[in-house]
Amino acid sequence: MEIKNVCVIGAGSMGSGIAQLIAISGYSVNLVDISEEILNAIKDKIEQNLQRYYVAKNKLTEEEASKILSNIHYTLNIEEAVKNVQLVIEAILEDMDLKKKLFNILDSICEKHVILASNTSSLSITDIASKCKHQDRIVGIHFFNPATVMKLIELIRGVKTSDKTLEIVKKFSKGLKKTVVTIKDSPGFVTSRLIYVMCNEAINIKMEGIASTEDIDTACKLAFNFPMGPLELSDLVGLDIYNNIGEYLTSEFGEKYKPSSLLKEMIKNNLLGRKSRKGFYNY
Ligand code: NAI
Repeated sequence: MEIKNVCVIGAGSMGSGIAQLIAISGYSVNLVDISEEILNAIKDKIEQNLQRYYVAKNKLTEEEASKILSNIHYTLNIEEAVKNVQLVIEAILEDMDLKKKLFNILDSICEKHVILASNTSSLSITDIASKCKHQDRIVGIHFFNPATVMKLIELIRGVKTSDKTLEIVKKFSKGLKKTVVTIKDSPGFVTSRLIYVMCNEAINIKMEGIASTEDIDTACKLAFNFPMGPLELSDLVGLDIYNNIGEYLTSEFGEKYKPSSLLKEMIKNNLLGRKSRKGFYNY
């Protein structure tokens, strides 16, 4: 089966980037959200991004950019959005119950051959798929933020994911010019398990007053040659996302993964990072 049309569900930080990447790679994309306001804002953002990062830098002509924009269809109607697509990529909140509910709906409304993928950064693909009839077509495609720039995709194979599903998705991911690694389904996979521990510890260091936000980030950038410090990265990913990852890893692996109390305090005060314009830094 060849993938031509894709549906992306959730037009937040990741879904909007994934939709943009897929459209730039020549596919038609239906981008779904539950909020019209978010869809309108994302439409403007994608148009600005194409102008700023592609047309202004002579990577695309005006004509090519408008062709790409016309290939992204924004909608609130999930049933319409999954018609005539070969692949659905879910990028809603990092919450097992919400994802399970959505996959049960997708499993019942999508034709049998349609591949259903989750962009979860930590949750078990096997669990997300557990109540679905056709679990062989369910797989994890973990993109990184920003999806248009970052080179890696982690492909997560659930217990019942078929070889065929994995092969099709691998070919599609390579077509997006990404390097693909295939990972056994396990909480946090490789990357989120590792990066969560480092960022959570940096947040504890900040909470204990051992160093300032800027000094923690500068120390890590220069000592480890990281392009971004852990607090800057936490703001980019979203503090709510890290908290959900931490809660999940704690429930699966134990207390060593417990989210920092500073993380919880900041979320209570709507300091979520870039998405709320305030986190460890102001935006
Ligand atoms: P976000 O909070 O920016 O966006 C989530 C979007 O989903 C919102 O626009 C919301 O309105 C929408 N939504 C919620 N329920 C929905 C539903 N039932 N149907 C349609 N839309 C719905 O979240 P973000 O950061 O984009 O994360 C999305 C997923 O991607 C999560 O599973 C997260 O773990 C994963 N991820 C996040 C990364 C990051 O750096 N933020 C990196 C890689 C993966």
